[in-house]
This record gives sequence, C-alpha cells and structure tokens, in this order.
Amino acid sequence: MICDLLLTNIKGLVQVRNADFTRASGKSMAELPVLTDAFLSIHQSKIISFGSMSSMPANLKSLQTIDCNGRFVFPSFVDSHTHLVFAASREEEFVMKINGATYQDIAAAGGGILNSARKLQTLAEDELLERSLPRAWEIIQSGTGAVEIKSGYGLTVKDEIKMLRVAKRIAQHTPLTVKTTFLGAHAVPANITKEAYIQTIIQEMIPAVAEEKLANYIDVFCEQGFFTPDETEKIVEAGKAFGMKPRLHANQLYNSGGVQVGVKTGALSVDHLENIGPEEIEALKKSAVMPTALPGAAFFLNLPFPLGRAMIEAGLPLAIASDYNPGSAPSGNMSLMMALACIKMKLTPEEAINAATINTADALELSATHGSITAGKQANIFITKPIPSYAFLPYAFGSQLVDKVILNGKVVSE
Ligand code: NIG
Ligand code: FE
Repeated sequence: MICDLLLTNIKGLVQVRNADFTRASGKSMAELPVLTDAFLSIHQSKIISFGSMSSMPANLKSLQTIDCNGRFVFPSFVDSHTHLVFAASREEEFVMKINGATYQDIAAAGGGILNSARKLQTLAEDELLERSLPRAWEIIQSGTGAVEIKSGYGLTVKDEIKMLRVAKRIAQHTPLTVKTTFLGAHAVPANITKEAYIQTIIQEMIPAVAEEKLANYIDVFCEQGFFTPDETEKIVEAGKAFGMKPRLHANQLYNSGGVQVGVKTGALSVDHLENIGPEEIEALKKSAVMPTALPGAAFFLNLPFPLGRAMIEAGLPLAIASDYNPGSAPSGNMSLMMALACIKMKLTPEEAINAATINTADALELSATHGSITAGKQANIFITKPIPSYAFLPYAFGSQLVDKVILNGKVVSE
C-alpha cells in the first residue's frame, strides 16, 4: 500500500467521524471523538485511512512522512461567513467607536458599509484581488480550509459583479475551497431610494450574478435601518428563483425579525443573533436552519454575545464563523473565534470545535467533503505546535498554534 503523505505519532486526531455525521446539535455538541497516538494517510488529495499507531499496517509506504510527535491534528476550520474581499481597512471608524460613536451613528454619517463601497468602487478587479489575497493566505495560515465570501461592498451592478469575480478568483489563486454569496442588499447607496435600489437588486443584479454563475447563495442585512423582514423576504425569493439559497444577517443590532424570515424562507443559516430571545429559539427549533454566532463582531462592536448556551440547551445546533470584514470584525482567526465563544458564550472547547468545523461545513453544504476527519473527505487538516491538549487551542487565545497546514493533500504552509 502506497500513499502520498503519512502523518505518524499524532498525539490527538481531533473530530474523527463517520461519513453519515453531518452536524452536531444539543447534547451531541459536547461530544468530540479524538483518537490518541494515531496515524493518518493521505493520497491524491483525500484522507484515505487513520487509526491508532499500533494498528498501522506494516506495508503502508508513503512518499512523504511527517512525525507529529506531541502535536494534534485538526480538520481545517470551515469559516461560513466572511466579507474578506474589500478595498481597505477602517481604523478611522475604530477610533470613532472608541470615542463613543455606535455602529449605527457611523453608518448614518455615511461611514460603515458605504465607506467601504466608495473605496471598492474606484478599484480595478485585479487590484481588488491583489488586496484581498493576503487576507486569504492569512486565514489559511491560521487553519481555515474552506470559506464563504460575500459581496456587498459594491452596491452597483458592475461593482457587485467585480467583487464576486474576485471572490471566485481567490479559489484559483489559493488552495481554499470558496463558496460565494451575493449580498447586494447590504446597505442602500446614498444616491437612490430604497425602493429603487431593491428593484435594481431584483431586476438587474440577481439575473446578472446568476448569468455568470457568480454566487452560490443570497444574503440580506435584515436589520432596523437597513432592510425590513418583508423586504428581505422579497429579495430572498427573487434570489431563490435563480437558484441561490438564502443565508441571512439576522438580529445583530436589534431583535429585527431576521430569524423568523430565515426560518420562513428556508435559509441555510441565520448569522449574528446578538439580539434574540425565547421566541427566536422556539422558531429555530422548528427548522433546519443553522444558527451561527459571529463572536468577533459581537466583541468588536461591544454587543451582547449570542445566547449560545441557551441555544445548545434547547437542543439546537450552533455554528461559529468569523465575519472577517473591515467594519465589525477585522479578524478571520477561527481559533480566536472559538476562544471568544468559550469565554463569552460559555461553550466548552468540544462545543466550540464542533461549531467551527462540522457545523460550519453543514451550513455551507460542504459536510460531505469537509469539517471532519473522515475517510474519503478532502485532506484539509492542520497540525498544531506541540500543545498539551486540544482545549489549549481556544484556551491560549491570541497564540498562533497552527504549525503546518495541509490542503487538498498538500503542505501549503509551514
Ligand atoms: O456582518 N452587519 C452587516 N455587515 C457586516 C459589517 C459590514 C461593515 O461594517 O462593513 C457584519 O457585521
Ligand atoms: Fe457579516
């Protein structure tokens, strides 16, 4: 038996699952199968076999072997919510926030999303790609192997198209698995009424995006001051008619009805959830929607953290993503997101790891190929530095503990 790559003496092989396990919810969020003193073999970009060192077949030969003594191996993180294609950072607004302005104050003054849109509109597609690629490599080095990338800083037909083309080109220029989401309904541009902009989204943007097959999904910022639940439903239904399934920005700043529209329209996920109550939890229990917390955004905007414990105790699944963007979450570091989920939302390390791997994979319809250590899945894994336990990853927040990254069976960062 010959394979391309063999990992030996793995201290702990984390998140070992059968192929039929696609999401953790309720009590199963606390279960994290880990194989100690293990090997893992990879061939032609897939995970082929794994088991304890004592059971490793004697005739298993490999072109390359990595001794993982003292190190853990994780499935790569799946980050199911980012806006990592953008033109420039927004530290000026960071300082305004420190001095007391809220996210809404900044948006009302023409800052926020409109600030990012003005900057992006002046850039050529190649320049936008060049500015975005370092962020893609940064998340690869911090352990992410698959990512969702949204538009929403274009806000014109041509600039939304430009953003989505760049998002798709990231998959050609890096080993990341990329899913794209059309978020034309992120904010209303200054020079147009909301009604007219919604017509542009429905009549021009959605057909143009579909024509070029630029987006897997459709998203709306369902929020007071942005898009109402009725407007969200209308836009989402228009996207669905072109094959784009919904995933929504819901209940970030206020309890704005986003969760209920997500449930009604059969969204894959409702993301943010800083402002939910028992009614939203009840609505989610009657659905297959993946509730997704973005703890980096709650931290950066000083918002209440989503009721992660209450959702898990109600039997729901929970996913964690980064929301990597210049306005509310300037970090795509999934280990840090897990730390915030543990510290601020009272998730256990096991729950946080499930939330950032198999559950985000499910939210991106990638659980057949990503999100766990399973024979036949894409060989997307990372090897940690020597650490005492897997819980050390969310515990030692701020440390860079990802050592080697293997994507599609190849070492891409070490
Ligand atoms: O997910 N809430 C809406 N969209 C982003 C922030 C966008 C921005 O401020 O640039 C978010 O937090
Ligand atoms: Fe977002």
